[in-house]
Amino acid sequence: MSLTVTPLDSADTPMLDAVHRIASAAQAVDEPDLPPICRRRFEGPLGHPMPGIDTRWVVARLDGVPAGWLRLYLHTIDNTENASVELVVDPAYRRRGVGRALHAHGVRLLREHGGKRLVGSAAAPLPGEEGGAFPGAAFAAATGAKPALADVRRRLDVAALDRSRPVALLADAQVGAPGYRAAHWRDHVPGEYAADAARLESRLLLDAPMGELEWEPEKMDVERIRGVERALDGRGVRRYNTGAVHEASGRLVGWTQLTLDASSTEHAWQQITIVDPGHRGHRLGLLCKAGNLGYALGHEPALRLVDTWNATANAHMIAINEQLGFRPVAGSVDWQLTL
Ligand SMILES: CC(C)(COP(=O)(O)OP(=O)(O)OC[C@H]1O[C@@H](n2cnc3c(N)ncnc32)[C@H](O)[C@@H]1OP(=O)(O)O)[C@@H](O)C(=O)NCCC(=O)NCCS
Repeated sequence: MSLTVTPLDSADTPMLDAVHRIASAAQAVDEPDLPPICRRRFEGPLGHPMPGIDTRWVVARLDGVPAGWLRLYLHTIDNTENASVELVVDPAYRRRGVGRALHAHGVRLLREHGGKRLVGSAAAPLPGEEGGAFPGAAFAAATGAKPALADVRRRLDVAALDRSRPVALLADAQVGAPGYRAAHWRDHVPGEYAADAARLESRLLLDAPMGELEWEPEKMDVERIRGVERALDGRGVRRYNTGAVHEASGRLVGWTQLTLDASSTEHAWQQITIVDPGHRGHRLGLLCKAGNLGYALGHEPALRLVDTWNATANAHMIAINEQLGFRPVAGSVDWQLTL
């Protein structure tokens, strides 16, 4: 048996087909309720990189057949000693050392880059529900990684949602938030709010529970925000944003975003939600989220499902999501390996 690990050649279309097929086969086993993996988003790092992320993509072949792949995301603006990692092995070729070989290769690349920490996410049972097969967790533990942050994925079944619910919640939130108004935008944050959006995003990780993860807040500025927008444009990701504007100062003090992949009209991902610490306690989180759901549904009438991840310790965000109708569907754990 020969096992090789080599860089992915972005011009090799059959290989791109193979790695996408592996990702889809793995997802069908590991997280079968997720929507089909959007090819444009999947290949995004190749043609449309995120600013501050240097992606290394390698493929493992077992007797010449593509059997798994690893993507290492080296961070170049902040968290320069950290790399996040995706490591996937075709279910047909597991427990033959492919994962270990890819992992060893990733560690080598990280060392060459002068990095110290590797962070990867793996499916886990929902808190309180034991049992089931979670190979990612067993594998991560076998590499010596430590569980650093527990997350729960929650899902909103839009089809089952009483459409009057976000409207009523929004009305409720507006009562609690005199002096603020909602602003909506699609893909690009309006220039007047761009600096505030960067400031809010920079402090996101300061505020969100991070467990044992050694991850510093990301340094966002307007240029980087525009770079992220360019990457998402290139990947075909549609965005719906709602912000809370403080009327007296005109500043953006809250922000939430939903995204839909190019391949999907039915499924959305709930991304960032943040409220400026100086403006908390006015139900602005709910104002933004309920408002944004209505805004997105106005443009995406086929939308049926929204998935979001929260750290299990993020009580405020979870309370808002539960109010909106999100319910737990799966657990995941971020594992951290310190070299
Ligand atoms: C996790 C994953 C990458 C493992 O790939 P693999 O090629 O089967 O891994 P290996 O054969 O190299 O296994 C290495 C060790 O991990 C542990 N391991 C892997 N899968 C396991 C399982 N299903 N049950 C128990 N232990 C397991 C074992 O200790 C194994 O060593 P052993 O076979 O000598 O006992 C693969 O199951 C996968 O793609 N899962 C979905 C994605 C994911 O969770 N990735 C990890 C993110 S941190």
